Amino acid sequence: MNILILGSGGREHAIAYKIAQSNKTSQLFIAPGNAGTLNCGTNVNINNEEFEAVKTFVLENSINMVVVGPEAPLVGGIVDFFKNDPMLCKIAIIGPSKQGAELEGSKDYAKAFMSKYNIPTARYNAFSKDNIAQGIEFLRTLKPPYVLKADGLAAGKGVLILESLEEAEKELKEMLENAKFGNASSKVLIEEYLNGTELSVFVLTDGQNYKILPEAKDYKRIGEGDSGLNTGGMGSVSPVAFADKNFMQKVEERIVIPTVNGLRNENIDYKGFIFIGLMNVDGNPYVIEYNVRMGDPETESVFPRIQSDVVELFEHTFAGTLNNIELKVAEQTAACVMMVAKGYPESYPKGDVIEGIENVTDSLVFHAGTAKNTQNDTITNGGRVICVTSLADTLEEALAKSYQSVEKIQWKNKYFRKDIGKDILTK
Ligand code: AMP
Ligand code: GLY
Repeated sequence: MNILILGSGGREHAIAYKIAQSNKTSQLFIAPGNAGTLNCGTNVNINNEEFEAVKTFVLENSINMVVVGPEAPLVGGIVDFFKNDPMLCKIAIIGPSKQGAELEGSKDYAKAFMSKYNIPTARYNAFSKDNIAQGIEFLRTLKPPYVLKADGLAAGKGVLILESLEEAEKELKEMLENAKFGNASSKVLIEEYLNGTELSVFVLTDGQNYKILPEAKDYKRIGEGDSGLNTGGMGSVSPVAFADKNFMQKVEERIVIPTVNGLRNENIDYKGFIFIGLMNVDGNPYVIEYNVRMGDPETESVFPRIQSDVVELFEHTFAGTLNNIELKVAEQTAACVMMVAKGYPESYPKGDVIEGIENVTDSLVFHAGTAKNTQNDTITNGGRVICVTSLADTLEEALAKSYQSVEKIQWKNKYFRKDIGKDILTK
């Protein structure tokens, strides 16, 4: 089978790594990919938001399966584009339809969906420029901290958590009146604050059946002890001790089943991943957000634990027969540490030569923002540069292996958090 992965990050490298292991894979292409995905297949320089270019490539290279990594092409309707084209409609594309992708594309839509299907989430209201006064009134009924969210996609930056009412009122105006996040904040959600520990839960669904993939914990802030600016994610671990059988049963009964039933009830075509970002509040799960793709860097700890053939899983996803395949998961713990360019998530240099990757023997090295220069050196090409994942019998060992490997990889402006997983180490 010829397979095309859309995307260029650590998530896509981890997906490519698993797909390349499958006996079913003949040729694997990654568009646009990075210096690491070159070890799994062939990189192709097409913009995954230009659907006609994707189509041309798919037809010219007899692609049988397309796995969509990031949300933008999904929210842009790539799955509908395939479905409505007689030459593409039989190709197994993994991802939700445009309507399904609204679960991530519009926070207001996602909240209305949760409320319709009684899925536990924070209390909220949505406001636009025309009813700022009501928004301010609603803020005054809440206790601090205050949570403001831009409705649309804002590259992970559209959520503000503010300690004072004064600040919250000011930011609400900034978002609605001065378009702080552009079009994404033409509507703003004000939410009740959930106090607890976050967990990322991943579901693969064919629209009827589902498999719950290994859960993970992501470390979002740039600084140790979860301080400083939000990033795409600085590391992840899987499994997560507090997500025990009892807790995951609540997640399945209260969130996963009603979500899949809700999609079916709304006649939404959904053959892909659902990423449920949730908060464990005193042992009870509440949805913070849905994403319609895998998480990054969660994929880098989740996918290495999947023992089933992922291409087979995807075939069943597209065929609507996920109930006919077993999901096998390694019991081992995976710990991933993200190495970033100093300065990230603000401005940072690109083009530093990366050395020492070949000395890593005990870990998997997934590239995030890397490229090759004209001398064929691997260079930094993004904020998040390389993700090192290790598997071991305990979290402690997995972390120790990853941190040893991180020391072997060098470039001029390297930075990483030294405390990934420490908060959940069990004694
Ligand atoms: P989101 O983009 O929706 O994932 O939000 C970004 C981050 O803000 C989340 O990962 C949480 O840490 C935090 N967050 C979002 N909504 C809430 C909430 N209602 N209560 C507490 N924290 C929240
Ligand atoms: N790691 C969080 C995300 O992928 O959105």
